[in-house]
Amino acid sequence: MFEFLISFIFLVLFFLLSYLIIWRINPRKYVSSGTVASAYDSWTQDKLLERLWGEHIHLGFYPPNKNIDFREAKVQFVHELVSWSGLDKLPKGSRVLDVGCGIGGSSRILANYYGFNVTGITISPAQVKRAKELTPYECKCNFKVMDALNLQFEDGAFDGVWSVEAGAHMNNKTKFADQMLRTLRPGGYLALADWNSRDLNQKPPSMLEKIILKQLLEQWAHPEFVSIKDFSSILINNKNSSGKVIFDNWNSYTNPSWFDSIYEGMRRPNAILSLGPGAIVKSIREIPTILLMYWAFKKGLMEFGVYKCRG
Ligand SMILES: C[S@@+](CC[C@H](N)C(=O)[O-])C[C@H]1O[C@@H](n2cnc3c(N)ncnc32)[C@H](O)[C@@H]1O
Repeated sequence: MFEFLISFIFLVLFFLLSYLIIWRINPRKYVSSGTVASAYDSWTQDKLLERLWGEHIHLGFYPPNKNIDFREAKVQFVHELVSWSGLDKLPKGSRVLDVGCGIGGSSRILANYYGFNVTGITISPAQVKRAKELTPYECKCNFKVMDALNLQFEDGAFDGVWSVEAGAHMNNKTKFADQMLRTLRPGGYLALADWNSRDLNQKPPSMLEKIILKQLLEQWAHPEFVSIKDFSSILINNKNSSGKVIFDNWNSYTNPSWFDSIYEGMRRPNAILSLGPGAIVKSIREIPTILLMYWAFKKGLMEFGVYKCRG
């Protein structure tokens, strides 16, 4: 029994030490939008993320009491956000901007299923290249490398603005909101989903929560998380918003994604193994962060915010 305990402690220490070394050698701390671009370039070029998560780099929506597959849940998420935000009230042919579009998973659904004319922008050149490869010629989507904090579009250029899980990468949330609302025409629809922290002023984090938040920021190139309440105030106070913002917390619908994303690696081991030993190390590296994310969202330290408002 004693020997078993010692071996177990050694094993735990070994893994902890390995993670600390890997995280130190290859940190992904946010420094500038350039850091975010190179992180996504590398996640795109090594193909690991796409093999596991498919073309959607966001959490899925798991309707209560319904069994749904990891990838189906991501598609479901897009449809849920479209109908919740009212984006589906826009007629076919409407111009929609997808801010932080990844490799275009949402953009293609918005174009193919809802008939919108979509422009997707991302800070990562490798994602734009991949998004173009994945998009058939007849699909009304175009993709550009652009910084969400400096959108190169005229005021009111879009009937709808859509952004999923990109805001946590922005170091200036006011500018992020301002750029999206500036390019949205008066009366247009804004649909947003993002990772938020709980209101830390109202309930300050414990020592453990501080350590976890630091890890969640530093591992995936996030400069800061804001609360749903704070981001809503930013939207409400923007001169281009109608001033009426509706928000919700979708933690319970999205949280199964975290464990599912680990199971996905077990369900499709070939997706990782066929990319070689480097991919195995890379995927193992992400597991602690995924588990911390799961824990933080489950315990309410993090909140999955969704927002809708009109221009
Ligand atoms: C978690 S991924 C979400 C991708 C996509 N919305 C999806 O749901 O599949 C975050 C995206 O935000 C983009 N992003 C982060 N910072 C950005 C910035 N400053 N300007 C433009 N895109 C940015 C990343 O390049 C990436 O495409």
